[in-house]
Amino acid sequence: MTEINVEASIVPAQLPNLHVAVLGAGKMGGILLQAFLKQNLFGADQIHATVAHTERAIALSTQWGVDVSTDNLEAARQSDLILLGVKPFQVPDLVAEIKPGLSPSKTIVSFAASVKTRAIEDAAGMEIAVIRAMPNTPSALGAGAAGLCRGRFVSPAQMELAQRIFETVGRTVIVDEKHMDAVTGLSASGPAYIYIIIEALAEAGVKVGLPRDTATQLAAQTVFGAGKMVLETGYHPALLKDAVTTPAGCTVDGILELEEGGLRVTLIKAVMRATERARALAAG
Ligand SMILES: NC(=O)c1ccc[n+]([C@@H]2O[C@H](COP(=O)([O-])OP(=O)(O)OC[C@H]3O[C@@H](n4cnc5c(N)ncnc54)[C@H](OP(=O)(O)O)[C@@H]3O)[C@@H](O)[C@H]2O)c1
Repeated sequence: MTEINVEASIVPAQLPNLHVAVLGAGKMGGILLQAFLKQNLFGADQIHATVAHTERAIALSTQWGVDVSTDNLEAARQSDLILLGVKPFQVPDLVAEIKPGLSPSKTIVSFAASVKTRAIEDAAGMEIAVIRAMPNTPSALGAGAAGLCRGRFVSPAQMELAQRIFETVGRTVIVDEKHMDAVTGLSASGPAYIYIIIEALAEAGVKVGLPRDTATQLAAQTVFGAGKMVLETGYHPALLKDAVTTPAGCTVDGILELEEGGLRVTLIKAVMRATERARALAAG
């Protein structure tokens, strides 16, 4: 027997007339699905998820209180909005499998890395809306950043719907598809760069005498606070930096070391290299 999601059944869903399929409800698909339930974007009875293994489908169905199966075609048939969350190499076969359940009025949203909207449109063999998204791991805490781009047959309303989907787990930006590799190199890979920066700042704190956990907390909260300042004030980062940097003060000495060490150029090169790699993977 499945658990009933009591909260979702009391408060009306924000998108009451839509059914959504999450085909491949793994790490990222599961994060999205749970965010839909938590924020009541869709009611539990509007969600149809699939995974590869039957035992996992049964366990997840009990855990989430939604329909989880291994039947992609049936889930696609029942849904207006179809999210593709399998591994990139599995996408063409999955689209071919659900093709009888597709129609031009439905919307496909793929978050498989490097799979182009054109490839999905071709596999579907019809003029269907395909939106591609590139989310990142902080989505798990609702602090994600996702780049979204549209295929050839997407209406403004469908794009808005895709944004609402990814806004349940963070912030979204819309870009041209040619920029999706750059989104991968910047915000999808970006958390790894920032973890290294936090680790290094914490190590520095230890070097100047702070206990390690204190140093790690200060470093992480500083990164969080600086990001929040940029997002919420709308000021250029250089202006915010200048506001911290008093004449002949401490910060300017620190900045001098950063510039000498080439942090700025190193970060630019890191994003460039990751973008090139994403482009190469997308080209096959
Ligand atoms: N994780 C991230 O941070 C992240 C970020 C951006 C983009 N992405 C993209 O998201 C996609 C999934 O990544 P992930 O990390 O979430 O991987 P994952 O945890 O391995 O999830 C993949 C899911 O697909 C299911 N699956 C496999 N074959 C299937 C089939 N034929 N029909 C239905 N379901 C099937 C698996 O089922 P079982 O559980 O039964 O094996 C699993 O639940 C990838 O394309 C990746 O590029 C992920």
